Amino acid sequence: MSLLTVSNIETLYFDRIYALRGVSIEVREGTIFTVLGPNGAGKTTLLKTIAGLIKDQPKKGTIEFDGRRIERWSAERVAALGIVYVPEDRGLFRELTVAENLELGLWGRRDNSIARDLEAVFRMFPVLRERSRQQAESLSGGEQQMLSIGRAMLRRPRLLMLDEPSHGLTPQIATMVYDALATISMTGSTILLVEQNARLALRVAHEGIILEAGRVVLQGTAQEIGQNDDVRDLYLGVGEPGTSATGWRLYRKRRRW
Ligand SMILES: Nc1ncnc2c1ncn2[C@@H]1O[C@H](COP(=O)(O)OP(=O)(O)OP(=O)(O)O)[C@@H](O)[C@H]1O
Ligand SMILES: [Mg+2]
Repeated sequence: MSLLTVSNIETLYFDRIYALRGVSIEVREGTIFTVLGPNGAGKTTLLKTIAGLIKDQPKKGTIEFDGRRIERWSAERVAALGIVYVPEDRGLFRELTVAENLELGLWGRRDNSIARDLEAVFRMFPVLRERSRQQAESLSGGEQQMLSIGRAMLRRPRLLMLDEPSHGLTPQIATMVYDALATISMTGSTILLVEQNARLALRVAHEGIILEAGRVVLQGTAQEIGQNDDVRDLYLGVGEPGTSATGWRLYRKRRRW
């Protein structure tokens, strides 16, 4: 069943710059859906539009979450539905400690699984326990990403939206973060994942799209996307050998989309 259905949305900045030109996605409950694409494609704009962070947008189209129309809702109302957005800059309170940042993830929760969930976060990222009294800004980039994902987990999201979680991480730490996402997915959260690292994202995702210049140029299962010749060449770097810079530009011109 579809948890999130985005239909034909158009998002503009300053009422004149089109960032999304009719984007549709359908994210099924319990799955990981990935949005891939180059710089400036509109990936972040898509997440922000869903999260209610761009005022009066989308201009056109609809966003349906769990059977309810939520386009142009305020960020607070969207968040109250259990939609958690982890921005690319991780959104941490840099001067607060690790423990305090995690506490913020628990804000508003009154159930009796809090201790268990905290334990699950520490099990997933043991370094957070070791550093719990340290200021968030003193953590490494990878540790900060773990903290922001751990904090998001404590909100028990129905939909977790992440913007480039592997950004700036070593391959080893990125793999660890992605293992965590797979675990979070298995515990029942649906995940909408924006990535530049197609290889990593396609490894965990079930379905996805490629976004270019505000349009969906390819959609399918992760397997279909990973096997597409253009994707292999442009995003996975496993296309025909010896493609020079010029060859690459030529190739761009004759690809299917
Ligand atoms: N606050 C803003 N005001 C005006 N234009 C913006 C704003 N934010 C983004 N844009 C423009 O909208 C387009 C899409 O940007 P967006 O940040 O969504 O791309 P992205 O796919 O996330 O790129 P990246 O991979 O570099 O993060 C770009 O052309 C960008 O210049
Ligand atoms: Mg972005």
